[in-house]
Amino acid sequence: MWELQITGKDGDLGVDVSQPGGTFDIVILGAGSGGYAAALRAAELNLSVALIDKAELGGTCLHRGCIPTKALLHAAEVADQTRESEQFGIKADLVGIDMAGVNAYKDGVVARLYKGLQGLLKNDKITVVQGAGKLVAKDTVEVDGQRYTGRNVILATGSYSRSLPGLEVDGKRVLTSEHALRLDRVPSSAIVLGGGVIGVEFASVWKSFGADVTILEALPRLVAAEDEEVSKVVERAFRKRKINFKVGKPFEKVEHTDNGVRATIAGGETIEAEVLLVAVGRGPTTQGLGYEEQGVTLDRGFVITNERLHTGVGNIYAVGDIVPGLQLAHRGFQQGIFVAEEIAGLRPAVIDEAGIPRVTYSDPEVASVGLTEAKAKEQYGADKVSTYNYNLGGNGKSQILKTAGFVKLVRVEDGPVVGVHMVGARMGELVGEAQLIYNWEAFPAEVAQLVHAHPTQNEALGEAFLALAGKPLHAHA
Ligand code: NAI
Repeated sequence: MWELQITGKDGDLGVDVSQPGGTFDIVILGAGSGGYAAALRAAELNLSVALIDKAELGGTCLHRGCIPTKALLHAAEVADQTRESEQFGIKADLVGIDMAGVNAYKDGVVARLYKGLQGLLKNDKITVVQGAGKLVAKDTVEVDGQRYTGRNVILATGSYSRSLPGLEVDGKRVLTSEHALRLDRVPSSAIVLGGGVIGVEFASVWKSFGADVTILEALPRLVAAEDEEVSKVVERAFRKRKINFKVGKPFEKVEHTDNGVRATIAGGETIEAEVLLVAVGRGPTTQGLGYEEQGVTLDRGFVITNERLHTGVGNIYAVGDIVPGLQLAHRGFQQGIFVAEEIAGLRPAVIDEAGIPRVTYSDPEVASVGLTEAKAKEQYGADKVSTYNYNLGGNGKSQILKTAGFVKLVRVEDGPVVGVHMVGARMGELVGEAQLIYNWEAFPAEVAQLVHAHPTQNEALGEAFLALAGKPLHAHA
């Protein structure tokens, strides 16, 4: 089936429909963040592209991930601000959460962005093919009997919510994030299995909406991939928000009860709730797609590539969540752009994984780039690494917002800053400057010359650099 059909909410997709099958400069399997970014960049470079997907253009991030979850998190913030308005001298009562209204707002955001993306892909150099594709030769993807041959092929089939052995997801009581995004009610209570990014974001939303939430995490701390001090602040804030969490004990089993579920963790402790969200990571979507048959190397399902994202087979590249590393949309975008430029012969610079900014949009927010203190010490030696924490207590705008947290810099002795870690309200917005500093390998003295507007939370970053450069202003030396 090659004719584009619209399964989304928007009516006409408006992209050009081509002849079935054909030969292209690039055939891309998967139209999520990695795949569509590669298509757009390739089209800019005058390469002909077939972009194949069995579902909606935009993939997980737009329809089932980043965008809808961040809309929920914003609605959650509005709920909290209403509930806590009195501390700003504003009298308002939170009378309830209208999930139909919240979902309409969330779906409206997705629909507008979806329409925008459809418009971008309308570019006549991109042939959008709707259907399930399979790699049937080193240069060919087959969709419903039609063959799309590419001088180059990009695999970009993304990821799915993983579960655990014996843990059956039914979409009613035991949910993945996709189910959770479509809930038509706020659960009275929820167990969140996994205290990583998805876990803390949903715990944050549901608590703000009034649910009783318990996170179960096998590792010794929440957001365990982040710097240890960041985890402490998140845990302190969650305790204050009365979000329960149990760390350091793996989950053992879940059973159905009359009204919900009962989870058991190592040691035998049980927790009951209306629903359980499984947030134990995402697996690569690579099975049954012909990858291995064509000689592509898989490791635990992930596609192995070199640093230039080439699989070592024919002219096959891979981008996004199927490539081991951070499963983030903006990494997918960047890899997609990279591969399109590589194919066009532009020899783009290899992407530094540590330079990819990371944001967890819970309350409080967590944002970071570069190495944690522990990783920096491992890499450079403990005696070569120093750190500086600037407490948001000294930052005017953070005081206005009544948020707590810090900006932490990790620096190599006489060298650049190799890690920036931030926690507190709205810290995600600061990660743009942090990633520039990291990726340009800026020295503290260089950043200290840059002026930060007052009063902004951005100043906290500036103040941290002033302090590290030996001239603290609004900070105790
Ligand atoms: P994750 O890898 O961030 O966290 C999964 C957590 O589950 C880990 O802390 C792990 O220790 C825990 N876990 C695993 N098995 C367990 C067990 N048996 N008992 C208790 N705990 C167990 O994965 P998550 O949160 O599911 O997210 C998946 C991907 O989606 C991540 O790679 C993330 O980067 C991405 N994502 C990014 C977002 C963002 O950038 N804001 C938002 C949501 C997801």
